[in-house]
Amino acid sequence: MKNRHNIPRRRFIVRGTGGLLAATVFPNIIVAKKQKTHSVALTGTGWWGMNILMTAITAGNVKVVALCDVDQIQLDKAAAKVNELTGKKPRLYKDYREMLEKEKPDIAIVATPDHWHALPAIKALETGCHLYLEKPVGHTINEGKAIVAAQKRYGGVVQVGLHRHAAPHNIAGMEFLKSGKVGEIKMVRAIVHYNYHNRKPGPDREPPPGLDWDMWCGPAPGHNYNPAIHPKGFRNYLDFSNGMCADWGVHWMDQILWWSEEKHPKTVYSSGGIFEEHLPADAPDWQIATFEFENFTAEWEHRRIGGNGSEKHNIGVYFYGTKGTFHMGWLDGWTFYPSAKGAGEVHMDHTLHMPDHQNIPELWADFIKAIETGSKPIADIENSHYATNMSLLAIISYKLGRSVRWDGEKQTVIGDGEAVAMMSRKYRAPWKYPEIS
Ligand SMILES: NC(=O)c1ccc[n+]([C@@H]2O[C@H](COP(=O)([O-])OP(=O)(O)OC[C@H]3O[C@@H](n4cnc5c(N)ncnc54)[C@H](O)[C@@H]3O)[C@@H](O)[C@H]2O)c1
Repeated sequence: MKNRHNIPRRRFIVRGTGGLLAATVFPNIIVAKKQKTHSVALTGTGWWGMNILMTAITAGNVKVVALCDVDQIQLDKAAAKVNELTGKKPRLYKDYREMLEKEKPDIAIVATPDHWHALPAIKALETGCHLYLEKPVGHTINEGKAIVAAQKRYGGVVQVGLHRHAAPHNIAGMEFLKSGKVGEIKMVRAIVHYNYHNRKPGPDREPPPGLDWDMWCGPAPGHNYNPAIHPKGFRNYLDFSNGMCADWGVHWMDQILWWSEEKHPKTVYSSGGIFEEHLPADAPDWQIATFEFENFTAEWEHRRIGGNGSEKHNIGVYFYGTKGTFHMGWLDGWTFYPSAKGAGEVHMDHTLHMPDHQNIPELWADFIKAIETGSKPIADIENSHYATNMSLLAIISYKLGRSVRWDGEKQTVIGDGEAVAMMSRKYRAPWKYPEIS
């Protein structure tokens, strides 16, 4: 493209390779490399849990001691993969409480569907583990608060799976944004225009043998089993997730907070809808949310209709500045479109890894560095909770059909009892909503 300058791939030093960094900067210093082996147990051996576990195994210095899933098929597949990669057989569990109590691993990975994040996460911290927790932090805002409180109380390192926060191209993009080259930015717009995961539910069925469906539903309202829900399809049901805005959106909310260094919006209004044929999979097919911050306005948009051909970028965040528009993307890397006539675009390609185009290796390396050196993890629980809150406030507003005002310091909705009530939810017995203490 004319006037388009590709930024050459920089030599990025992956966080966590402290020895490499020190040896590069101070070549005469010989740095002893730590060789501690961390025992690891994974809860939720599905798609993303296995992506994390395979990354951890490849990175080295871990011993996979145990796996837990309520679905024997998932569990057996995962165990075979671990055996293939490490030559060792992990112990297998169907109840994360039993696994954590018996194994007491150094690291617990939690990659269950969103309605099952809070309880295993808190149990892992209580057991004394470090925790790699998948995003979004919780299914309701008060679950997130309870995990933040548990981290403060028990002290483990918590890394949340917001791998875009560790991605070299996102880090370079943030440097560009913060350098002032985009000018003053008052408006940002995050979008996911993408249709993924088949969402046409067929008839309910008996759960397949080996799947403990009651435990899968856990604290969420009970549903009949439907293969459209499990595996992976839970993200289309609001009882188990908060739809696209929380599923993919939280990655982009995180980028907005990272850029702005703000923590909380002041007001949120959201609307959207769903095509009747997709019910009972009730996560919105389209949703727009407006967030008013102290110093800027942000917008979220997702749609699972209309294809993607009509717009240049279909995923990511646009930052509209007085000197041009900056797009932080996914497969399309990032691009700056200057407003000045004749000025060239600036672009950097993505730095994603396969499978599934992610930056888990960088995030995992940063997690291990935080455990070994005491540094703050790059996607720490508190900031990840704030990013999650944006998505969860948007869904509260969507459900209520009115704006909500948010007191970020007190972490509560202002003047709306119904919205305050939606910051928690009733758990199905015998599960108890986590206490914030
Ligand atoms: N960071 C990312 O980019 C990214 C990408 C994809 C998924 N995720 C997150 O990973 C999590 C899992 O998503 P997925 O797509 O891998 O789903 P999945 O359905 O493929 O896997 C989830 C697994 O958890 C198991 N499970 C459910 N309840 C359980 C329980 N109580 N104890 C043990 N196992 C239980 C299920 O049986 C299933 O095997 C979600 O929170 C999702 O948001 C993150």
